[in-house]
Amino acid sequence: MCMVIFAPLFAIFAFATCGGYSGGLRLSVDCVNKTESNLSIDIAFAYPFRLHQVTFEVPTCEGKERQKLALTGDSSSSAEFFVTVAVFAFLYSLAATVVYIFFQNKYRENNRGPLIDFIVTVVFSFLWLVGSSAWAKGLSDVKVATDPKEVLLLMSACKQPSNKCMAVHSPVMSSLNTSVVFGFLNFILWAGNIWFVFKETGWHSSGQRYLSDPMEKHSGSYNHGGYNQDSYGSSGGYGRQASLGPSSDEFGQQSSGPASFTNQI
Ligand SMILES: *[C@@H]1O[C@H](CO)[C@@H](O)[C@H](O)[C@H]1NC(C)=O
Ligand SMILES: *[C@@H]1O[C@H](CO)[C@@H](O)[C@H](O)[C@H]1NC(C)=O
Repeated sequence: MCMVIFAPLFAIFAFATCGGYSGGLRLSVDCVNKTESNLSIDIAFAYPFRLHQVTFEVPTCEGKERQKLALTGDSSSSAEFFVTVAVFAFLYSLAATVVYIFFQNKYRENNRGPLIDFIVTVVFSFLWLVGSSAWAKGLSDVKVATDPKEVLLLMSACKQPSNKCMAVHSPVMSSLNTSVVFGFLNFILWAGNIWFVFKETGWHSSGQRYLSDPMEKHSGSYNHGGYNQDSYGSSGGYGRQASLGPSSDEFGQQSSGPASFTNQI
């Protein structure tokens, strides 16, 4: 029962930890002439990480003049893509859960439901992989661009060794790291689910599968020939099936998702 909740829940974690992010860093510039110093320069940034639009003013330590600066880089495309994938995956898995629970019979009535489900699941697995990889790269750019040491390099005042420039605190990135982890977890979840949705399409029973179904036929035909019936039947055909059954069940429990739920009922 709990696996139905997994796909929508994991999607929520992914887009909430990324899309809801706001963070900041604080620097201090201690000029030779103390009256020109600013000991708490706050730089705030947030999703969607258009860092080149984040501007701030710092003292130049040359009279009252200020230097106007901006962070570098723009990770908005990967961040927005990631969140978009997560939101649509959430909506789809929620809708699929409702269909599986309340419209079970309609879903299995013809092959269209499982077929669409299969295609959408494959597409989302791919999107999760691409989105998570792109966002992982985007996040590493964000980390460099908001590293206080990197920002201090932009300031002219800090090129004078007589002025003391320091990082007061760095941005907290744990929720963004979490979002990348959940992105890849979602990929594993959806990719693992492909198998269960594929079984629903009924394609596997019409050939090319070598697991349970063809095995039965094989052992049956061998038995006809009277070839060592008991030992073959039990050790070959049945024994294999028995070992496959539970393991695929276990897999169904770990890799959650709507289709594995139908599998269980
Ligand atoms: C220091 O910089 C912050 C912006 O980060 C600004 O709000 C504040 O007024 C500045 N303080 C002084 C003394 O200039
Ligand atoms: C320090 O700065 C203030 C105002 O910018 C200025 O009046 C003063 O002369 C400066 N002091 C020194 C020692 O440069």
